Amino acid sequence: MSQKKPETSREPLILTGIKPTGTPHLGNYLGAIKPSLELAERYPAAYFMADYHALTTLRDPARFRELTHQVAATWLALGLDPDRVIFFRQSDIPEVFELTWVLACFTSKGLLNRAHAYKAAVAANREAGNEDDWDINAGLYNYPVLMAADILAYGTDRVPVGQDQKQHLEMTRDIAGAINHAYGRELLKLPEPLIAEELKAIPGIDGRKMSKSYDNVIPIFAPPKVLKKRVMQIVTDSKVVDEPKDPDSSVLYEIYRLFAPGEEAKRVYEGLKRGGLGYGDVKKSLAAHLEEQFGPHREQYEHWISHPDELEDVLHAGAVRARELARPILDRLREAIGIDR
Ligand code: ADP
Ligand code: TRP
Repeated sequence: MSQKKPETSREPLILTGIKPTGTPHLGNYLGAIKPSLELAERYPAAYFMADYHALTTLRDPARFRELTHQVAATWLALGLDPDRVIFFRQSDIPEVFELTWVLACFTSKGLLNRAHAYKAAVAANREAGNEDDWDINAGLYNYPVLMAADILAYGTDRVPVGQDQKQHLEMTRDIAGAINHAYGRELLKLPEPLIAEELKAIPGIDGRKMSKSYDNVIPIFAPPKVLKKRVMQIVTDSKVVDEPKDPDSSVLYEIYRLFAPGEEAKRVYEGLKRGGLGYGDVKKSLAAHLEEQFGPHREQYEHWISHPDELEDVLHAGAVRARELARPILDRLREAIGIDR
């Protein structure tokens, strides 16, 4: 006998936020953009620029605008289809900020005291001989509450994030659970994190994790000359062409194999190991592969960057759809709280 699906059953909604605090780089591409675009092929998805999260540190208005546009343009140029994915900007959704307050009233202060980012800031202050909370704004302290609102506002089912965001997802579930418990019904859906545990961080040109904080990134859509220059700066040892080298400990090879076809990576691996293949040639080949992969999308990227009005139209259309998801959830919550409309 075929069972009727419950009325609430629908495909799981995937949601993630991208904090626009740096020009998107190859690490962001492999760790966040590519996997999220793949998920969006299979599930309903909502992706957004978490711009107000960036305000905890980013105070230059021109840069704020520029980075939000760069991040949005990158996702669109790399294939995000805004007809399929609900693609928007956090600051366009008033419901999220209303929800943030409600959630804050159900969040114990102790929970926020234990947040990794806040604890790290306090530890840095102690290390420097400052008072615990020196230069820590309440935005940083409340960051997890805003993030919980981002997730809970839309009835999100799954959230693809890096390992570093795991605690935020646990907090989100705790806070939602506290509200559901207080009002005795499932007002907010508890989301599941989707964490790619096995994903190794791609190294930057200095061998440390590629990160804007280390100024060691290869930007996805830098002009070809800049891209090539960055690739040429990847650290290697000083072995000459003929010497046998150790590809397994080579930063260059580690990046190379992520962007070259398997067969070719194998040839390069063997060439380095045997000797006879120099780092310079591998770098040239890497630059060519990057250009081959991202070059064709650069025009699109430049188009969005040079047509900010079009980009704004896309984001505003996304915000309308996102608000349609959020409104009924907020309405139910207000009613439960005792606010009549
Ligand atoms: P950054 O380290 O440059 O500040 P973010 O912390 O803003 O980058 O990272 C945004 C997302 O990009 C993260 O969730 C993570 O999944 C991914 N990411 C960033 N750097 C790397 C890297 N080196 N390798 C793999 N993924 C990365
Ligand atoms: N805190 C996330 C980061 O730093 C960004 C983010 C904000 C987010 N809101 C979110 C991620 C909601 C997932 C879901 O990367």
